[in-house]
Amino acid sequence: DSARATLIARIRMLMLQHNAVLVAHYYTSADIQDLAEDTGGCVSDSLEMARFGHAHEARTLIVAGVKFMGETAKILNPEKRVLMPDLQANCSLDLACPADTFSAFCDQHPERVVVVYANTSAAVKARADWVVTSGTAVKIVEHLHQQGKKILWAPDKYLGDYVQRITGADMLLWQGSCVVHEAFKAEALQKMKAAHPDAAVLVHPESPAGVIALADVVGSTTQLIRAAQNLPNQTFIVATDNGIFHKMQAVAPGKIFLEAPTAGVGATCTSCAHCPWMAMNGLQKLAQVLETGDNEIHIAEPIRCRAVRSIQRMLDFAA
Ligand code: 13P
Ligand code: SF4
Repeated sequence: DSARATLIARIRMLMLQHNAVLVAHYYTSADIQDLAEDTGGCVSDSLEMARFGHAHEARTLIVAGVKFMGETAKILNPEKRVLMPDLQANCSLDLACPADTFSAFCDQHPERVVVVYANTSAAVKARADWVVTSGTAVKIVEHLHQQGKKILWAPDKYLGDYVQRITGADMLLWQGSCVVHEAFKAEALQKMKAAHPDAAVLVHPESPAGVIALADVVGSTTQLIRAAQNLPNQTFIVATDNGIFHKMQAVAPGKIFLEAPTAGVGATCTSCAHCPWMAMNGLQKLAQVLETGDNEIHIAEPIRCRAVRSIQRMLDFAA
């Protein structure tokens, strides 16, 4: 409609005026994803979001996603201005891992290498030896395991459990979870698979073990989109946030994407395949932060200096 078109035109103008680029996650709305791509920004998983922002010459990065993504952008780009449409957009994993409690836990296990998922605060990253994303976790833990290292892992217990099973590493797991992915149900998925015998099942590793066990492909959002494009199947059952369907449909037109079941018969779920925090990224707020300069991410320099080392270690390893 015309109000939306006017709003988008205004955002484009403001982005030019402020030398800003938009970096968005696949779970944000179709409007935000399209705008990011149409204006020379990017839509990707958390690993590529970090890389893109760092490589870009824009003075302002607008990060449409959740808080840890904005913080990672700022940690890697202290000289740039990093804005987010909504600073309340958090993540249940980040919230489940407060820096002081986590740091005390690390102190109790000094013999372990501290590996944290990207979905954590800057202060937690500052306490870690390594940061990993869903796309790099298995390889990095494998590497540490081969060196004979024991690992302290936080915060996602499902991803940690998955990485542990694949690598055989000795991992002590923090007990956090993602409210979106932990709602996927294995038994209902099994039935859905039986009803669609030709469908490939794509699962994000933040899902419970029973759901992962039914997957044809387990991976980061980018890896799942590649699978949707490259596998010969015409139908896919997808166990991750349904915001990803926008990109899947674009790269694999004509294929059918079905949402994996989030609850058994009669049960209810609170975050049915869509992250409530990712949903906070709207066009209106985007225009507003560009106009006002509100919602800037700031990170205390001592924390940033320590956090950048654990993130950079991952980027160098994955390069
Ligand atoms: P990806 O790195 O796979 O995009 O995952 C980020 C995330 O928050 C998944 O819930
Ligand atoms: Fe966090 Fe889950 Fe939302 Fe991803 S989908 S940002 S892991 S709450």
